Amino acid sequence: MSAPNKSYDPVEVSALQPEALDAARDEAIAAIAAAADLEELKKVRLAHAGDRSPLALANREIGALPPAARADAGRRIGAARAAVGQALKARQAELEEERDQRVLAEETVDVTLPWDRAPRGARHPLTTLQERMADVFVSMGFEVAEGPEVEAGWFNFDALNFKPDHPARTMQDTFFVESEDTDLVLRTHTSPVQVRAMLSRPLPVYVVVPGRTYRTDELDATHSPVFHQLEGLAVDEGLTMADLRGAIDAFVHGMFGEGLGTRFRPSYFPFTEPSAEVDMQCFVCRGGSVEPGAEPCRTCASEGWIELGGCGMVNPRVLVACGIDPDRYSGWAFGLGVERSLMFRHGVEDMHDMVEGDVRFTLPFGMEI
Ligand code: PHE
Repeated sequence: MSAPNKSYDPVEVSALQPEALDAARDEAIAAIAAAADLEELKKVRLAHAGDRSPLALANREIGALPPAARADAGRRIGAARAAVGQALKARQAELEEERDQRVLAEETVDVTLPWDRAPRGARHPLTTLQERMADVFVSMGFEVAEGPEVEAGWFNFDALNFKPDHPARTMQDTFFVESEDTDLVLRTHTSPVQVRAMLSRPLPVYVVVPGRTYRTDELDATHSPVFHQLEGLAVDEGLTMADLRGAIDAFVHGMFGEGLGTRFRPSYFPFTEPSAEVDMQCFVCRGGSVEPGAEPCRTCASEGWIELGGCGMVNPRVLVACGIDPDRYSGWAFGLGVERSLMFRHGVEDMHDMVEGDVRFTLPFGMEI
C-alpha cells in the first residue's frame, strides 16, 4: 500500500480514475458473461474480484489520495466492485441452474425400459436333485459329510480294500493328477469319504455324502467323465443288512412315492461284504409294463425295475483300516447315481443336456437361485 500522499499525484493513483475503474468493471463483467461453466467462472472471480484483481489493487490506492478525494474515489470503487459482485452472483446462479438441468437430464432413468433382458441363471437340476436326495436321509437323522475331489489313492483305494492290482487303479478308469506313482487321483467315487468320516467322527456314524466324482469315460448319451454320487454310511453296534434295506426303502418312499418295492441283487465291491445292486420298482408303471400286452414304459424300458446303485455291509477290513473294532461295530453303505436319478425321474434322455450348461435346459426345473 502506498504511503499517505499529501500532494496529490495523478500518475500514482491513475488506477482510481473513473475511466480506469469503468474499464476494469466492464472488462470484469464481459469476462463473467463469457464464463461458460462454473469452473471458468471460478477463475474469472479470482482474476476480477480476488485480492489481486485490478479493482482490489485500486482500492488499496485510496490511502494515497488527499483526504478530500477519498470519499468520492471510495464510492466509485464501491460501485464498480458491487457491479462486478452482482454480475458474478447472477452468472453463478445461471450456471448452477444450467448444471442442475444437465445433471437431471443425464441421470434420467427411463422407467419404461425393460429390466430383465439379461437372462437369470438357474441352479442346475443335478444340484437341486442331489440336495433333495440328501435331505431324505437328513430327515432320518443322517449328517451331510464332504471330502476332497482330488483324493489320496490311499483313501480312494487302499483303505477301501482295493488290492494293488485292482483294474480300477489303472489309467484306464482313473484320472491321475500327475502320474500313476504320485498317488493323487480325482476320486472315482464318493466312498473315500466313508473312510474320512470313520477316521474323523465319533461313533456311531450316520452320514450322507453328495459329491462330484470322475472316471475316464467318454462323454456320450449315458456317460460323463464327471458325474455325481450320493454316498451313505452307517456304523453302529448291531447294524444288519435289514437296517440297510429299511433305510433304502424309506429313501425310495420319500423320494419317489409310498409303496414302491425295492430289491437287492448280489454283487461285488471290495469295500462291502456282502454287496448288492439295489433296484426300485418303476414309479411310473409300478411293474405293470412287463405284463404281456401291456403299454410299454419309457421310464424303466418296460423292465419294471430301475437300478439305483450299489450297497452292502461295510467290509470288516475297511473298519479295521479306520481303527474300528469289527467285533463290536458293524456298518452298511450305499452309493447312488445322481445323473441316473435325474434321467429316469425327469425323462432326461441325453447326458449332453446335463453338461452343456444351456439355460434352456435348466430353466424348466425351476428358478431356484
Ligand atoms: N462306490 C461304489 C461305486 O462307485 C458304490 C458303492 C458305495 C457300493 C457304497 C457299495 C457301497 O460304484
